[in-house]
Amino acid sequence: WQLHAPLIAEINRIKREKNAVILAHNYMAPEIFHGVGDYVGDSLGLAREAARSDADIIIQAGVHFMAETSKVLCPDKKVLIPDLKAGCSLASSITGADVRLIKQRYPGIPVVTYVNTTADVKAETDVCCTSANAVQVVEWAAKEWGVDKVILIPDEFLARNVAAQTDVKIIAWQGRCEVHERFNAQDIADMRQAWPDAQILAHPECPEEVLSAADFAGSTAAMNDWVVDHQPKQVVLITECSMASNIQAQSPGTQFIGPCMMCPHMKRITLENILDALVNEQFEVTVEPELAERARLAVQRMIDMPP
Ligand code: 13P
Ligand code: SF4
Repeated sequence: WQLHAPLIAEINRIKREKNAVILAHNYMAPEIFHGVGDYVGDSLGLAREAARSDADIIIQAGVHFMAETSKVLCPDKKVLIPDLKAGCSLASSITGADVRLIKQRYPGIPVVTYVNTTADVKAETDVCCTSANAVQVVEWAAKEWGVDKVILIPDEFLARNVAAQTDVKIIAWQGRCEVHERFNAQDIADMRQAWPDAQILAHPECPEEVLSAADFAGSTAAMNDWVVDHQPKQVVLITECSMASNIQAQSPGTQFIGPCMMCPHMKRITLENILDALVNEQFEVTVEPELAERARLAVQRMIDMPP
């Protein structure tokens, strides 16, 4: 922390000067999360915050689809991402053309798309969801369209996990998160043996067998809330490993244990490239206006849903 202090001070000074805001995802390194993030949270929280921000510049301390979502919601603001290569295996698993083919195959069935997708995919979507609200959005779409099935893309595991919690039939895609797909039921069994008193919390992008063996499943924000509410003595978070470091501060009585799985895309964002982004106003994320307008409808529908 001492080492980072001058950089953090400089970023926060320029941020104020330029009326910029830094939206930092829960997977950011702790010096970003605690040092320079103006709003920290899950994908849903960051999208909500982008929509209500009155800053001139948004710096997305997260991955590219998150910056695109901010741009779609705030077409008049300058949206910057410190590294254009900060992608996501889920977002790159599907294109707008793929969604058009799926819609041809299932006419009249609503398309619910996870926010971890490009604007091109969101533009073909009826309503977006995050892991925090996927069941609620799927049930809303089925009711609104008067059908018993919905298309839920692109995360295969999220789709299966939602299917286990609703009567609505789910048509899925084969996208996977390269971080969460690596966990399996044996890992959980091994953790139970190593730490019999630990509570195990898992992200819904993990395989079904992981979620059914865990004590709780939820988005990054939901996992955070669970720890705050329950204050367990020991907890394992089956997700990207910066999460544990970031939420440790508010739960000093909880010991965070378990494996460290990093998202290489999230870890492309550093204090150094955030400073460069602010100083040079780079790298600007743009979305073609007609596409952005169609994508915005899908994201806005999700944001307008009651929490
Ligand atoms: P959350 O919406 O839970 O923050 O998840 C985003 C993400 O990229 C998880 O891998
Ligand atoms: Fe994408 Fe997985 Fe990284 Fe989240 S953790 S940004 S879903 S690759």
